Amino acid sequence: MQLNIKAIKGTQDVLPSESYKNQFVEKTALEIAETFGFKEIRTPVFEQTELFQRSVGDTTDVVQKEMYTFTDKGDRSITLRPEGTAGAVRAFLEHGLFNDALPQKVCYVTSCYRYEKPQAGRLREFHQFGVECFGTASPAADAEIISLANEIFGFLGIQNLELQINSIGCPKCRAEYHKALKAYFESYKGELCETCLDRLDRNPMRILDCKSPVCSKIAEEAPVVLDFLCDECKEHFEMVKKYLENMKIDYKINPQIVRGLDYYTKTVFEFVSTEIGAQGTVCGGGRYDGLVEEMGGAHTPSLGFAMGLERLLLLIEAQGIQLPEGRGCEVYIASIGEKASLAASEIVTDLRSGGISAQFDVVGRSVKAQMKYAGKIGAQYSMVLGDSEIDNNKAMLKNMETGDMAEVELDTFAEDFMNIMVQNAAKGLGDYIGGENFDLGALLGTLPQEE
Ligand code: HAM
Repeated sequence: MQLNIKAIKGTQDVLPSESYKNQFVEKTALEIAETFGFKEIRTPVFEQTELFQRSVGDTTDVVQKEMYTFTDKGDRSITLRPEGTAGAVRAFLEHGLFNDALPQKVCYVTSCYRYEKPQAGRLREFHQFGVECFGTASPAADAEIISLANEIFGFLGIQNLELQINSIGCPKCRAEYHKALKAYFESYKGELCETCLDRLDRNPMRILDCKSPVCSKIAEEAPVVLDFLCDECKEHFEMVKKYLENMKIDYKINPQIVRGLDYYTKTVFEFVSTEIGAQGTVCGGGRYDGLVEEMGGAHTPSLGFAMGLERLLLLIEAQGIQLPEGRGCEVYIASIGEKASLAASEIVTDLRSGGISAQFDVVGRSVKAQMKYAGKIGAQYSMVLGDSEIDNNKAMLKNMETGDMAEVELDTFAEDFMNIMVQNAAKGLGDYIGGENFDLGALLGTLPQEE
C-alpha cells in the first residue's frame, strides 16, 4: 500500500528539473558578496529559544506567533531559526570574531522557519541569502550593503524593484516616538487585537506591523518615526542618502517601514516588487547598532539584510528571466555486452576526471533503450561500443543534435575530447563535432597524432 504522506503545508520540494535555478541564484549571491569581502558563515538550524526572544524580540509577531519551538529530550527549549541574524550574532560572540579585523563581513544561504499562513511567496520553510557586517557605524556601510543587494538583483537581470528606505532612529529618539504612538493607539484601544493591546504598553511600534486587518488599518494613520529623529540619526540618514545618490542607486523614502524585528536602529530598507502578489518584499534589512551589546558583547554597531530566495525566484519567473541550466550529459556511451560495458566504464571515468560530464549504461538495457535514455537526458554526444569497436579501438562519435558523426580512437578518446573541448572554448565554439560554424575536418586534424 502506498503511504499517503505529503510534504508539510508551507514547505516545498525543489525538483531536479528546477534546482539549477536555486543553485544559480545562490552561487551568484555568494560570489557577488565575496567581491564585497563577505565570507560565508554556517550556523545551526536550531538554537536556544532565548536567542530569538532576546534578539528578534519577544513582542514581535515572529516570536509571539510564528516560531517553531519545542522541548528536546534534554528538556531544553529549542527553536528552529526564524531568520539568520541572531545565529550569526551568537557565533560572532561565541567565537570571538570581534577580535579579528573589523568590520567582520559574513554571508549565508540558510533555511528559515516561521509558522505563518502559507500563500504565494510566503512559506513556513523558506530560504534566505543574507549578509551581516559587524563593527561599523558609518553610513557608508549602509549604502554599501544596499549596493550589494542591488548588484545581485542587477546581475540576475531583475527589473522594477523599488528600494524603499527609512530611519527608525536610535533608543534616544525612539522614546519620544513611543510616547506619541502610545497616545495615538490609546484612542483605538477598543479595536486593537489582544496581542496589540499587550504591545501598547510593552512596545507600541510593533502594532505597526500587526497583520490583523483592523490593527493595520488603524496603523495607517499613526505618527511616523521620521518626524521624531534626533540630530545624529537625521545626519546619519542624510549621509546614507548621499552615498546612495553617489552610487546612482534610486530609492524612495517610505516612512511606514518599521521592519518586523526588534533589533533595528537607524536605517531600515526593503526592496519591493509589485509583480509577485501580496508578498512583494524580496529583501529587507537595516542597522542593528545595539544588538551585539544586548547579546552580551561590546558596543558593536552592525547591519545586514536578507533576501527571500523563493520570492526572488518567483520574480525571476514573473519577469521571464532565463537562468543558465546546469550541465547536462556531455557524452553518453552505450554498450553491447560485458566487454564493451567494462570499456565504457573506463572511458567515462577518464572523461569525468577531465571534468567532462559522462554516463554509461548502469541498468543493463538494450542498445535501443540506452540510446532512448541518452536522448531523454539530453546527451550532447554518444557512441555505441560493441566487441568490434573494442577490438578495432575505433568507434563512431555522434553529435546528438545534428546527427553528424566522426570516427574516434578509443584509447585516446577521453584525452582528445577534452583537448578539443578546451580548444573550442578558447575559440568560442561550443561543439566537438558538427556545430554550426564549425570545421570538422580542421578539428579532427587537431587531434594529437600518434608518435
Ligand atoms: P525579514 O524581513 O524578516 O528580515 O526577512 C527577510 C526576507 O525573507 C523577506 O524580505 C522575505 O523576502 C523573506 N521572507 C520572510 N518571511 C518569509 C516567508 N514566510 N516565506 C518566504 N519568504 C520570507 C530578516 O529575516 C532579517 N534577519 C534580515 C536582516 C539581516 N536584517 C539585518 N540583517
